[in-house]
Amino acid sequence: MNRKRPVAADEEPTGPPSAASIAAYVTRAEGLVAGAEDLGALDAAEAELLGRRAAPNVWKRALGGLAESERRELGGALNAARARIETLVATRRGDLEKVARAMVLESDRLDLTEVLPVPGPGHLHLVNRVREELEDVFLGMGYEIAEGSEVETDWYNFTALNMPPDHPARSGQDSFYLDLGDGESVVLRTHTSPVQIHLLERGELPIYAVMPGLVYRRDTPDASHLPVFHQIEGLVVDSGVTFGDLAGTIDTFTKAIFGADVTARLRPGYFPFTEPSAEFDISCTICGGVGCRTCAGVGWIELGGCGMVHPAVLESTGVDPEVWSGFAFGFGIDRVAIMRHGIEDLRTLVENDVRFLTGV
Ligand code: DAH
Repeated sequence: MNRKRPVAADEEPTGPPSAASIAAYVTRAEGLVAGAEDLGALDAAEAELLGRRAAPNVWKRALGGLAESERRELGGALNAARARIETLVATRRGDLEKVARAMVLESDRLDLTEVLPVPGPGHLHLVNRVREELEDVFLGMGYEIAEGSEVETDWYNFTALNMPPDHPARSGQDSFYLDLGDGESVVLRTHTSPVQIHLLERGELPIYAVMPGLVYRRDTPDASHLPVFHQIEGLVVDSGVTFGDLAGTIDTFTKAIFGADVTARLRPGYFPFTEPSAEFDISCTICGGVGCRTCAGVGWIELGGCGMVHPAVLESTGVDPEVWSGFAFGFGIDRVAIMRHGIEDLRTLVENDVRFLTGV
């Protein structure tokens, strides 16, 4: 052991202390504690200076080998040194904790006096604005706006839409059932399609209607899914309605919402309540159809489903499919909103970040 030099971490003392080595330890400890910039560094310094294998403890064990008077003198000096370093560590810890708390407070601070650039008295949420624009487009085409309720019975949400119990298409819409009535008979609607049934049951034909509203599914939120989201449903029932009318309607409203450069296309699809059914895509609004990350390189983005109303749906509501025919469609309003505004993540819409809310 070298008593002339301060004890370094890799040079643990093995024998008894001297007045000089204790003084050197204190000097070094003062420097280490004062230099600890955060609580982690202070913990490390404390372990090194006061831990089981640190100098004061090693020295304390070695005191027994000294003569009585020397032991008393060095023992006293050692205790005083240890107490001093313990106090320094505690004081420094208090200071660092205060700084850490202040930093947390500062980062969480909500300045209630801050004047945010809210335009006028406030404005509609982006999704509601897009919903109103969609409604306007359809009102302009002679449609009525209808609303259903967010709680439906199994009949309206599934069975009348040609999805009887055990139909495999039900499992694609993991549902929230309510604890009402018979087991699994009342559900938070999984789509806006049940409003079709209410309109058909009203028995006032022809029907030209769109039906916007909230729907619920047991989906985990991610960039393209929300468990609570908005759909808009369309239903036309008249005599002699054709698939061409459906295609023309979809093309008209996509151009009205996204602009004349955007094209719609229909792909064969399957929905129990339409026959034939189609998925409808629009050319990617981000890359203009050449292919990018948002459209996974294909140049098209899926928007919703559509098709000719299945005769079984008309029959389930007492409408004669020999006399009436029609088409239906449904798609997510939130998706339209993010695509039109180049927002990458659906969750942004519901996080209530005031910078986003005021910026769009
Ligand atoms: N209800 C369907 C869904 O949520 C969307 C849909 C597809 C609605 C086809 C329609 C339709 O009216 O004809 O996935």
